[in-house]
Amino acid sequence: MTEPVSSQSLVIDNIGLLVTNDPALGRGPLGIVSNASVVIVDGKVASVGPAGAVADQCIDADQACVLPGFVDSHTHLVFAGDRSEEFTARMAGSPYDGGGIRTTTYATRNTPTDELDRLVRLRLLEAHRAGTTTIEIKSGYGLNVADEARSLQIAKAHTPESTFLGAHLLPAEFEGRSDDYIHLVCGEMLHAAAPNAKWVDAFCETGAFDVDQCQAVLDAGRAAGLGLRLHGNQLGHGPGVQLAVECGCASVDHCTYLTDHDIAALAGSDTVATFLPAADFSTRQPYPDARRVIDAGVTVALASNCNPGSSYTTSISFCIALAVRDMHMTIDEAIQAVTVGGAAALRRDDVGRLTPGSAGHAVILDAPTYHHLAYRPGVPLIRHTIGPLGT
Ligand code: NIG
Repeated sequence: MTEPVSSQSLVIDNIGLLVTNDPALGRGPLGIVSNASVVIVDGKVASVGPAGAVADQCIDADQACVLPGFVDSHTHLVFAGDRSEEFTARMAGSPYDGGGIRTTTYATRNTPTDELDRLVRLRLLEAHRAGTTTIEIKSGYGLNVADEARSLQIAKAHTPESTFLGAHLLPAEFEGRSDDYIHLVCGEMLHAAAPNAKWVDAFCETGAFDVDQCQAVLDAGRAAGLGLRLHGNQLGHGPGVQLAVECGCASVDHCTYLTDHDIAALAGSDTVATFLPAADFSTRQPYPDARRVIDAGVTVALASNCNPGSSYTTSISFCIALAVRDMHMTIDEAIQAVTVGGAAALRRDDVGRLTPGSAGHAVILDAPTYHHLAYRPGVPLIRHTIGPLGT
């Protein structure tokens, strides 16, 4: 069940355990308050206090746990088609190399815009039901000027966090001419995409684009006024993390293979390391060593990476369970990574927390504590998502 935020005041009352992410409001880094209420006015948190606050409208949390809405900082929701056969083959031993991006590009190019938009809406509804209230959406399955531009029109209609990923994979028609394709991405394609994009991204990986090509895309995106993000170190060690840090990217995403040098570079920067454990799950990659990264002082985020190839899930709860079980993050760290961590990856300070002035985006669990998100994997524990998706 979902609740819109009205222009009137709303109180979430009778909260057993509230995560604010504001240490000034409560215990520890999560700013935990027991027996609490949150008042939301015009979509923003007006106050956090003891249970019993009064407002025009009341949602009784019935002693359940309440968290900030999840911030999913990495998705590829604009796509058509299905790659379940590729997944099935992978489970039988075929490796993942990203080549299936071309399959999705073919399907996406051949799908009418209104149908693509309908598919994105369905995925957003699914994500919202699963507790996500802020979401980033990339292009990257158009890979020509017209289809990248329309992918971004669709993305921008649903979220301010839209990302131009023309440098996702070399399209078949440019085989053997990757520099020509990068020239197109940095010129005509960027020009068509930029009006509907906030960010630019590139896939820096063997089999995708090399460090010079990715640097060219980031430089061109910056010159066009876009913020920078990068896919890096997903399928093996490589220069992605170093490039992201040197360029001042807001986030470098995947980070499955990191050297000590990569971790030191991240620790000395304000680039967020975004882990995508559902992709490592679905591609049978090892999980990143998040413990080592967090202990070095790096800011980390966890995101779904929803896409039809490497990670067909919108479930942030699933990512939390993987991060705790297989990446050795504490449950508190995982909760931070899907709220304030995701917000940091998007350079936002208005979401991912429940503190006066922040967005009134909240999740009411069907559980007394947030620990259940890892303790009860696969169980739909999101009772209410409060706040619209796409702000
Ligand atoms: O983030 N790594 C590149 N892009 C996606 C995969 C896309 C696909 O396989 O379709 C990712 O995992």
